[in-house]
Amino acid sequence: MTKILYLGHSAVMILNESGNIIIDPFFTNNPLNPMKVAACKAQYILVTHGHSDHLGDTIEIAKNNEAKVITNFEIATYLSKKGVKNLVPMNIGGTVYFENFSVKMVEAVHSSSIEDGNNIIYGGNPAGFVVKLADLTIYHAGDTALIANMEFIGGQNVIDIAFLPIGGTYTMDINDALMATKILHPKMVVPIHYNTWDAIKVDVIKFKEMVEKETRSSCIILNPGEAI
Ligand code: NI
Ligand code: MN
Repeated sequence: MTKILYLGHSAVMILNESGNIIIDPFFTNNPLNPMKVAACKAQYILVTHGHSDHLGDTIEIAKNNEAKVITNFEIATYLSKKGVKNLVPMNIGGTVYFENFSVKMVEAVHSSSIEDGNNIIYGGNPAGFVVKLADLTIYHAGDTALIANMEFIGGQNVIDIAFLPIGGTYTMDINDALMATKILHPKMVVPIHYNTWDAIKVDVIKFKEMVEKETRSSCIILNPGEAI
């Protein structure tokens, strides 16, 4: 059985038999992440967009583990200039296949840029991912507004677990994430991207109550370091 570990903010680690997968590995400066960068054993890194709370410690973790980094073309180009060797550049609508799982890059409505010292580099389009494992289909929405395309993502995939941002300000808030749950109809929704800082503080219990009252999905609140 696949085990999934939540590492705070948008960082989600999938413990997979042919290589661990980490999505948006934001460790340094993430007040909620309980794991040390050096302790992160991942063979695949998925990056939804270029903002520092998502790109995070990708370079160090990739180099430590000789991990493959799966991200958009622009971020992959940036990472190659930083000495990351194993890159899988892709774009929205594309699917890449690995030994026992696949990754589809799907639309997110947000922005994407990379801070590199004093320079701001164009980070391509932001994205979400649909990760299909043998026993589980996971949707990680990245940072996004509520988008009509979620209805299509939910129609095309039987989603077991949807990781949805609920913090508002930069992404969906709890009301829009409730609507997203209604159109994605995942078996389980796990809220992310909230309570890391004051600007994204929300009442997560209220979100859980709304989801379980108004949809057939269950809502699992994971504390950083907890796994399902
Ligand atoms: Ni962002
Ligand atoms: Mn973010």
